[in-house]
Formats: sequence, structure tokens, C-alpha cells
Amino acid sequence: MKIGFVGTGGIANYHLEHLMEIKEAEIVALCDVVEEKAKEAAKKYGGKFYADHRKMLDKEKLDALYICIPPFAHQDQELLAAEKGIPFFVEKPIGLSLDYAKKVEESIAKNNLVTSVGYQDRYQDIIEKIKNLLAERKTGLFIGYWMGSMPAVSWWRKKEESGGQAVEQTTHIFDLARYLFGEVEKVAAFGRTGLMEDVKDYNVEDASSATLYFKNGVVGTIFSACFLSYVGRCGMDIYSKDLAIEYKERTSIKITETKKSTEINVGNDFGFLEDQVFIEAVKKNDGSKIRSNYADATRTLAVTLAVNESIASGKPVEVNFSCEKNS
Ligand SMILES: NC(=O)c1ccc[n+]([C@@H]2O[C@H](COP(=O)([O-])OP(=O)(O)OC[C@H]3O[C@@H](n4cnc5c(N)ncnc54)[C@H](O)[C@@H]3O)[C@@H](O)[C@H]2O)c1
Repeated sequence: MKIGFVGTGGIANYHLEHLMEIKEAEIVALCDVVEEKAKEAAKKYGGKFYADHRKMLDKEKLDALYICIPPFAHQDQELLAAEKGIPFFVEKPIGLSLDYAKKVEESIAKNNLVTSVGYQDRYQDIIEKIKNLLAERKTGLFIGYWMGSMPAVSWWRKKEESGGQAVEQTTHIFDLARYLFGEVEKVAAFGRTGLMEDVKDYNVEDASSATLYFKNGVVGTIFSACFLSYVGRCGMDIYSKDLAIEYKERTSIKITETKKSTEINVGNDFGFLEDQVFIEAVKKNDGSKIRSNYADATRTLAVTLAVNESIASGKPVEVNFSCEKNS
């Protein structure tokens, strides 16, 4: 399977390492606007290098494409891949524009393409366990959080480039909430600034809280914070009548019932599984095992963009996203 990459930064290398372990996968082309980075990656993983994805897509015959670029850089990469009938994996968030995402979604549906999005948390065995526990009972409410320090990549601190913390980072928790509780009807969010004045070119919120109302009646609040200089807290606490679940991001779950509590550590290499499932899906042209496809991820983007809108306006925002969820 001939695979190309757009973007050869941090997360691209994570996937490239996995693909080295998957025998069907062959890296044939790598592209980065910083050509030196693409060249370096080509030396390590094989294939040709490019500085322009359009040239790469014109010249190479690819069976699959990985798109691993910052949120602001999504312009036409997915659309070109979809129009050429190339199945693709794209890192979260899928971009910053729902209008663009809709066009891509339509092209994917028209070409019946396999797609996958980098919400790897969905592939954890402990998340499957939570899903099964929740299927048997009603959830009352939940608290989610991604509270830590500011990521080092230069684009992260600029809202116009990353979308801010809810869109870029806490998106994992928003996505998990959708995976566990279904679609969000409306959000009401507040943000604060003033703690990061020593950081140059910084214009994202230092912290925010977003309360979500789900179509099935579940309510929950998700906290984001990027100002901590100590080990923070990422995960989710879920409460039902007879059971509480404490999920520690990518680490463990603690299940508390009236008379006992059980702790289970994550037991699978979910990041590797995410890539393995994508390659298998491309091979069989069957996306049924993929846990987050492009259409699904557009809905997580819609929720996090609604959070930004609510922070900006100070008012609750309805999450309206009217596209078929069948691709
Ligand atoms: N799933 C996860 O847990 C996870 C973890 C980290 C990052 N990510 C996501 O992956 C994406 C990339 O993050 P990163 O940490 O790898 O960032 P990075 O800055 O390390 O790498 C991005 C690379 O893309 C290149 N690039 C930018 N615009 C380009 C374009 N138009 N064409 C080709 N290359 C281009 C940059 O030069 C850079 O090398 C982000 O959306 C981020 O949110 C996901």
C-alpha cells in the first residue's frame, strides 16, 4: 500500500513509526512546507520528498494519504485527496472551517471513501469498557477536563492558527463526550485571560469552562486550562445513579459502586491500533471498524467552534450541523 504524508512534524512521526511496523504499508512520498523536514523524514522512512502537496498529489499514485498539519493549514488537502479518490487519515482537529469540512464531507460521500481522524482515545480498551457500562444505565452528568501547560509548537498560542485550546487540545474530551453520550444540542461557555502575559504572540484563553446540553438530556461541563506549571489533570468523571466512573486520560478508569471500587489500567496500544485499523479499512475498502471518520469529526469541530462562539458572545449557542453522517 503506497502511502503519502502531508506534514512531517511531531504527530506525523508518531504515525510513521507505527506504519514501519505494518507490513503492507510503504511510505512513498512525504511533503512539508519546510522542505528540510520532509527530506529528513524521507531519509528515515523512505520515499520521495516534496514542499508542495499539490505537486506530490499530481506526481504520485497513492493508495492512502496521512494529513498531519496544524489546524490553520487545512486549505484543500482533504478535498484534493477526496476528488482523486484517495482514502485519507487526518489529524484532529480537521481544520477551523465548517464550510470547508462540509465540502470535503460531500466529496467523501460521493466517492464512497474510507477516512479516519486522529481521535485515538476512542480505541482504548478502557473506553470500550465505559461504553458498555453506560449502555446499561442512564448517565446523570459528567465533568471533563484538560488542564495542563501550554504546548510548545509555535502556532498553538495563536487563536487564528490553532483555534484555541477547546478546538485543538480539549477536543479529545469533547469528542469522547460525543462518543459516549451522543450529539450536543447547545453549549454555554466562558473563558478567561490574564495569566500568560509573559508569553509573546499569545491570544488564546488561559482557561475556559463549557457546559454542554446533549440531545438525550445528559449535561456536563468541560474545563480547559493551559497555564499550569505542574502536572495537571486530564480526563472525565461520569456519574449515574448506581455507579461513578473516573477516567484518567490514556491511563486508567476507576469504577465506584455502593460497596466497592475497581481500578483498571489501559491495556492496549490504542495509538498503534488506530493506524492498523485504518490500513486494514483501506485494504478492504470497508470503514466499519474506524471509530472516528471525517463526518463524525466535523461534529466534534462544530461543538468546539460553538464553544468559541459562546465565549465570544457571552451567550448560549445551539450546535447546528446539517450534513448526513453516513460517510
Ligand atoms: N492525536 C493526537 O493526540 C495529536 C497529538 C499531537 C498533534 N496532533 C494534531 O496534529 C496536527 C499537527 O500537529 P504537530 O504536533 O505534528 O505539529 P508540528 O508543528 O510538529 O508539525 C506540523 C508540520 O506540518 C507542516 N506544515 C504546515 N503547513 C503545511 C502545509 N500546508 N503542507 C505541508 N506541511 C505543512 C509544518 O512545517 C510542520 O512540520 C495538529 O492538528 C495537532 O492538533 C494530534
